[in-house]
Amino acid sequence: MAEQRDILIVGGGVISVAIALELAHQGATVTILCRDAAQAATQAAAGMLAPQAERISPGPMLELCLQSRALYPSWIHRLETLTGLSAGYWACGILAPRYKPTKDPKSDWLGREELHALQPGLSAEVAGGYWYPKDAQVDNRALAKALWAAAPALGVEIQTGLMVDTIVHRNGVVTHLQTSLGDWQADHYIVATGAWSHDLLPIPVFPKKGQMFSVQVLSEAEQFALQNSAEVCTAGFRESLPLQHVLYGEDVYIVPRQDGRIVIGATSENVGFAAGNTAIGIESLRQAASRLYPALRQFPVQESWWGFRPATPDDLPILGESPYRNLTLAVGHYRNGILLAPATGRAIAQWVLCQSSPLPLDAFHWSRFSD
Ligand code: GLY
Repeated sequence: MAEQRDILIVGGGVISVAIALELAHQGATVTILCRDAAQAATQAAAGMLAPQAERISPGPMLELCLQSRALYPSWIHRLETLTGLSAGYWACGILAPRYKPTKDPKSDWLGREELHALQPGLSAEVAGGYWYPKDAQVDNRALAKALWAAAPALGVEIQTGLMVDTIVHRNGVVTHLQTSLGDWQADHYIVATGAWSHDLLPIPVFPKKGQMFSVQVLSEAEQFALQNSAEVCTAGFRESLPLQHVLYGEDVYIVPRQDGRIVIGATSENVGFAAGNTAIGIESLRQAASRLYPALRQFPVQESWWGFRPATPDDLPILGESPYRNLTLAVGHYRNGILLAPATGRAIAQWVLCQSSPLPLDAFHWSRFSD
């Protein structure tokens, strides 16, 4: 006998849970099936909310990204109020320093003096840079924790440790999922399986590995005081941190966290699902980061890790309809999964419940890759 549910979402990343929460918020009954949330790209990301720093071309993708960035403050507020957990949202703005001055300065360009005044400690080689005050960041791991806490609070059922092996379909309709824990059946299915999506469906989503590491700017005593203080993450504490903005260099980004860590990323490698950090991967980041922000050299390294971005041939996600009438896609967010979580949650929930969307999803249709 198959397990029966209303809506099944396959995947354990931020996109999956964002959709589940939005559906639950609108009164739907939702179950998430997930193999291992720790593997999702969510855990590996830097959490930059950076449609401008990422230089996304004007068009539907930029509109979706800007809409999602605008949704962030209220989305986080709702999540934090529900769970009592901080997701580390910080409207810190993003600086994109350059070693050569631009020949065509636009309004977002800051010259050498202005840039160094805005963020002291940058390399003397930095000749200016772009300033995107509306770009922001969230602590992606803290966000994942808050989302996972919010899900049961809104009645979302989560089934972990379960591997979906096959999506079984007949005449253009999914009949059930074959999983490591038996068959599961639903009225509607949503696939949000990130870099692993090609294992389940003939859609071109492939892994693009990113390696990262972090340093800690606080001493152990300061960390202890911070963890045990009611003053945690007050503006006063935050303002004492050496880096006040995300630095988005040409070959590295440097993301200060409000808890005193600094996250440095990320490589971009076509190596399939090859696990692990490599000496050359971390060394290339270390060199690029120390060149941009020399003070980094003195901070103790805290951790290194890697993850797999879900890439597509045109770098755009695949959202909405699928080859099957009762299956919706939310995959391929590539470098922008954390940024796009609120807008994707909203768009996919509305698509599933009303067959409409707050923004047109045509540009993200799966059939753009079919012959
Ligand atoms: N969003 C930044 C990255 O994927 O590395």
